[in-house]
Amino acid sequence: MRSFVIGGAGFIGSHLIDLLVERGPVTAYDNMTVGKREFLGHHLDTGRVTLVQADALDLPALTAAMAGHDVVFHLAANPEARWGLERTRLDLEQGTICTYNALEAARLNGVPKFVFSSSGTVYGNVAEPCGEDDLGKLPISLYGASKFAGEAMLSAYVECFGLEGFICRFGNVVGPRGTHGAILDFCKKLKAHPAYLDVLGDGRQAKPYLHVTDCAAGLCYVLDHATGEKPAIFNLAPPDATTVKRIAELCVAASPSPGARIEYGGGSQGWPGDVPKSLVKPDKLAALGFRVRHTSDEAVRISVSEVAREVFTAA
Ligand SMILES: NC(=O)c1ccc[n+]([C@@H]2O[C@H](COP(=O)([O-])OP(=O)(O)OC[C@H]3O[C@@H](n4cnc5c(N)ncnc54)[C@H](O)[C@@H]3O)[C@@H](O)[C@H]2O)c1
Repeated sequence: MRSFVIGGAGFIGSHLIDLLVERGPVTAYDNMTVGKREFLGHHLDTGRVTLVQADALDLPALTAAMAGHDVVFHLAANPEARWGLERTRLDLEQGTICTYNALEAARLNGVPKFVFSSSGTVYGNVAEPCGEDDLGKLPISLYGASKFAGEAMLSAYVECFGLEGFICRFGNVVGPRGTHGAILDFCKKLKAHPAYLDVLGDGRQAKPYLHVTDCAAGLCYVLDHATGEKPAIFNLAPPDATTVKRIAELCVAASPSPGARIEYGGGSQGWPGDVPKSLVKPDKLAALGFRVRHTSDEAVRISVSEVAREVFTAA
């Protein structure tokens, strides 16, 4: 199987490639705005992975690089939902247009399979656990809107051009080689200002956290096992949720200054567009035979020590 991973030098992409190299050659296509060569270094040295540094907004370059592959994993996106508040075109370009380009390049090349990394943000501001069909509310962030648009576009390509499409709606993904997210933010803040940690919101925001190794394994499982649905749609997250307060406390405890005080900004949301409480039902993927190895609390606990090691031991 020849795999093409858009955003392959990023956080989730590089962990996915750790698994895909066992199946055949892999091309990582990445503009390296966030991605790092070192995340793939071990595979680049063996020649099992080819890194193409180019932009998914460049449709001719993307189409040329994608020729001859059997499956596309589309993982490129705006990495931080809240950045859309300052740059309102960001999610349109890095989300919606890049997803169109990825689908169009797959169509032009006749690549038969396409896996899209979506997010639980498509469910909007709903505190009750959401199954895949619970789309009664619309997204509340520009990031969520771009994922929603991407899902719709994939569905149209599946119907109109016979592509086999797979959509995975991730929880918040955590683990080593992170490029963004609360754990990395908190550890970096504590490194810069060891005496205190300021936290957006009241700390009671609670979301399902998915360890990146479970995310990569789930993507491969869906590709291997989902059949018949056009497109196949799965929540990929644990059923529980972890509070921001708990994450902040664990980061402080793992830092060189375990006595640091935590200061909460207040308000139920971290920022406008942030869904304060979310839960997803992983039952459909479980029925297909896949369960994540780590609960949300476990994924957070493991990731805090992994990320703390990366941040506090770095020069
Ligand atoms: N990390 C999470 O918690 C999470 C949750 C839900 C969904 N997702 C989705 O999973 C995917 C991967 O997320 P991640 O956490 O690995 O992010 P990431 O930022 O680490 O990886 C994305 C990669 O895409 C690259 N990229 C961005 N724009 C590009 C462009 N125009 N052309 C080429 N490359 C480009 C970046 O350089 C980066 O290496 C994204 O689509 C994201 O929206 C992530």
